Amino acid sequence: MEPSRGVAAEPLAPRDVIPALISEGVVTAEEAVTSGVMVQDVGRSHQMYSVSVGGVPRAYLKSFGPSRGASDGSAAKERAVAALAAERPAVAALVPRHLPWRGPQAVVVTEAQPGRAAWADEADGGEQGALWSDLVRRIAKPLADFHRATRDLAAPGARPPPALAAKPPWVLALASGDAAPEIWQTQHITRATGRISADPWLCQGLRAARGIWRDMCLIHADLKHDNVLLLDRDGVSGVVIIDWEMARVGDPAWDIAALAVRLPMTALGEDPWSERTIERTAELLSAYTEVSRLPAPAVAKRLPAYMAAWLVMSAIQHQSTQAPDTSDDGASELLDKAALGFSRREQITRSLIRAVS
Ligand SMILES: Nc1ncnc2c1ncn2[C@@H]1O[C@H](COP(=O)(O)OP(=O)(O)O)[C@@H](O)[C@H]1O
Ligand SMILES: [Mg+2]
Repeated sequence: MEPSRGVAAEPLAPRDVIPALISEGVVTAEEAVTSGVMVQDVGRSHQMYSVSVGGVPRAYLKSFGPSRGASDGSAAKERAVAALAAERPAVAALVPRHLPWRGPQAVVVTEAQPGRAAWADEADGGEQGALWSDLVRRIAKPLADFHRATRDLAAPGARPPPALAAKPPWVLALASGDAAPEIWQTQHITRATGRISADPWLCQGLRAARGIWRDMCLIHADLKHDNVLLLDRDGVSGVVIIDWEMARVGDPAWDIAALAVRLPMTALGEDPWSERTIERTAELLSAYTEVSRLPAPAVAKRLPAYMAAWLVMSAIQHQSTQAPDTSDDGASELLDKAALGFSRREQITRSLIRAVS
C-alpha cells in the first residue's frame, strides 16, 4: 500500500499499519524478514499500536479517529509540540521524539520510551509518600523549564501554532453558557451534567475557575500518571511526558493541579482535601515555583478551583464509561468532592500558602 500523501485526517486501517511502517522507514523490510516486527494493539481511547523489532520496543503509532467535538485531542496538537521540541531544548527534554511520517495526518509515531508509568495503582499509603516525593523530584524542574521556555507563545501579539491556540479546557466552559453543545447532549453523561447544572457550588466554582484562567505558556493539559513515564538511565533518574494531544496555550497551574489531584492517591476512596494531600500539593508547588520563578501564592490561589474542576472532568469521564442510565456512584462521589473543594477554596488556598512559606 502507498499511504496517502494528502492532509486528510483519516485513521489508519489495521491492515495498513505494517505496510505503512515499512514505507515510512519506521522499520525496514529487512528487519521485518530477519528480526521479526511485532505490532500490538494497545489502544483504549484511540487506535494505538506498539511496534517492536526483534523484541526491542521501537515506536508507538497512534491513529486518531474522526473528532467527536470540543473535548477531543488532536494529532495536529501532538505534531505542533514535536515541532517546537525541534527548536527548544526545554521542550525536547520532556517530549518523546516523533519519527518522520508523511502518511495519513491522523497518525503520529513516537519513539518508544523505556519508562514506566509514574504510579503503581497498588501502592499503599506509606509507599505513596515516597512515590510522590520521587515524582516531584523528577518532574518539577523540567516542567517549570518547559513552561518558562514557551512563555513567548502567550505574550501579547504572539502567534502560537494554530493547533495550540488558546482555549480554556472544555470543563471550565460547562457553567458559562458557551460550552460546546455536544457535551450537554451526550446521553451517557446526562446524570453528571444534570447534577452540575443543579448544584450551585459546582456551577459557581466552574465559573470562578474559568474567571481566573490565564494564558501564560504552553501546557500539557492532560497530566495523569499514565502520561508521565519515569526513566532511569545510567544511574540518572528522569521523566518523559507522552500524549500531547490536548496541549494548548494556557495556565501552567492547570498542569500542577492535574498532577496534584489526578494521581491515584486522590482517586476514588481518597480525600483530595485532606491535610496529607494538601501537604503533597504544597511539596510540588514549592519545588515547581522555585524553578519557574512564579510567585507561589499566586499559583496557590488558582490550584483549589482547578483541582476541583479536574474532579468534575474525572466525574464526567467516569460516567461516560458506564452504560447509559446507570447511576454511577463513582461519578457522584467525585462531584461531591469537587463541590466540597469549590466551597472550601479560600481555606485550602490559605493552607497551601502556609505550607510553602
Ligand atoms: N512513546 C511512547 N513510549 C512508551 N510508551 C508509550 C509511548 N506512547 C504511548 N505509550 C504507551 O501507550 C499508552 C497510550 O498512549 P497515549 O499517547 O497516552 O494515548 P491515549 O490518548 O490513549 O492515552 C501510554 O499510556 C503508554 O503506556
Ligand atoms: Mg494517555
